[in-house]
Amino acid sequence: MLAMQIPALRPVPLRPADLAKRRQAGLPITVLTAWDALSGAVVAEAGADAVLVGDSLAMVVLGHSTTLPVTLDEMLHHTRAVGRGVAAVCGPQRQQPLLITDLPFLSYQCGPDQAVAAAGRVLKETPAVAVKLEGAEPETLLVIDRMVRCGIPVMGHIGLTPQSVHHLGYRRQGTDPASQERLCREAHGLARAGCFALVLEHVPEALAERLRTELSLPLIGIGAGSGCDGQVRVTADLLGLTTQPPPFSPPLLPGRQLAVEALRRWIAEQHPPTMPATTAAPHCSAPAPPDR
Ligand code: KIV
Repeated sequence: MLAMQIPALRPVPLRPADLAKRRQAGLPITVLTAWDALSGAVVAEAGADAVLVGDSLAMVVLGHSTTLPVTLDEMLHHTRAVGRGVAAVCGPQRQQPLLITDLPFLSYQCGPDQAVAAAGRVLKETPAVAVKLEGAEPETLLVIDRMVRCGIPVMGHIGLTPQSVHHLGYRRQGTDPASQERLCREAHGLARAGCFALVLEHVPEALAERLRTELSLPLIGIGAGSGCDGQVRVTADLLGLTTQPPPFSPPLLPGRQLAVEALRRWIAEQHPPTMPATTAAPHCSAPAPPDR
């Protein structure tokens, strides 16, 4: 009798709704950014629950001074690479994390049709299953509502929103009662619009804790204290690869320094040992080669 080939069972990838289940079960949620196959594989291998292809890649990877220049096509390109890296290390033993892609500046602000088309490209052309976008203006809430009704899972992001850098700077948000009330209204609006989770960036811990008692969707903090349901970090900051990480995201190791030192050692080893001086033979009239 021929032995039947039984395909190896792979655990299903984490879904947006699983983050709410983790919150209900009191389990912390970890989200790490990735920008290519290598970083995607590393964060998946480390066990992140979700991998975010953040538009911070504009600064971290593409060398821009803000997140504004990165395009939707570039985000799609990087998301496909991250997806390949994640898939390569996930199998029967490791659950595939939830893959989320940031919608870049001006890919969703020009109205619901444009926003649904942009988010639709993320879901159709990459392995990401959800998008993240910044802000909670009435227009943004309309856009989110439309996306959610089209079946596109959306993660919100308020507080420090780097796409509004020319308006808000990189300052901590929610530092006075009026702006705290505004952030609360925004968070409630995003929950009502159907976001499956919400990133709170660089806001006071007490505000994050208040929001956690008022809302049931998972709150993912960065620079928002330890009272959130989960934490998100820019992986390059954690690994010490960036030169100016934000104060709320200190590096876990001096990755850049370690890499430079190791590469310097390798380069030094490649330099050929100094050759002993040779006496030119009488018949040899060619000039000595220049020093290297
Ligand atoms: O783009 C990004 O990396 C982000 C995180 C900081 C949340 O939005």
